[in-house]
Amino acid sequence: MVASNIDATEVFCKMIMEVSDIYSEKVIEHFMCPQNAYSMPDANAQGVYGDSSCGDELIIFLKVQDNYIQEISYLVFGCCASIATSSMTSVLAKGKSLEDALAITEEDIIQALDGLPENKVHCSNLGVSALRDAINNYYETLK
Ligand code: FES
Repeated sequence: MVASNIDATEVFCKMIMEVSDIYSEKVIEHFMCPQNAYSMPDANAQGVYGDSSCGDELIIFLKVQDNYIQEISYLVFGCCASIATSSMTSVLAKGKSLEDALAITEEDIIQALDGLPENKVHCSNLGVSALRDAINNYYETLK
C-alpha cells in the first residue's frame, strides 16, 4: 500500500516536471490551484462551450447584479490548459460589467497566463466562448 502511494507521488511529480517544461508558471499555478472552480446552484445565468476537436467542455455560472458579475464559477472537463484558461477567465471577468466581460478576448487570457504553447492556443477559446454564452443567456432572461 505504501509502495503504491510512493509510485503515485513519483508519477505526479514527474508529470508536473514535464508540464513545467511546456507551460508558464502562471499556467501551472492556475492548473494546480484553479480559482472559482465550483458549481453554483443559485446562478442567474450559465453558459456552455465544448470543443468538438478535443472533447474539452466548460460550463460557466454567473451571479449578475446591477449589470455586474458579482460571482463567477465553472466546472471544466479538459486538459491542463483548459483548466488554467477557465480559471483565468473567471479571474478576469469577476467584478466586471457585462459589457466589459463580453470584451474579454482569447488574447487577454493568453497574455494573463504569460502565454500558451502553440498547440494549446485554442484552449483560450473555451472560457471566452462559455462566458459570452452565459452573458447572452442572461440578456435573454431580461426580455
Ligand atoms: Fe482542447 Fe484544451 S486541448 S481545450
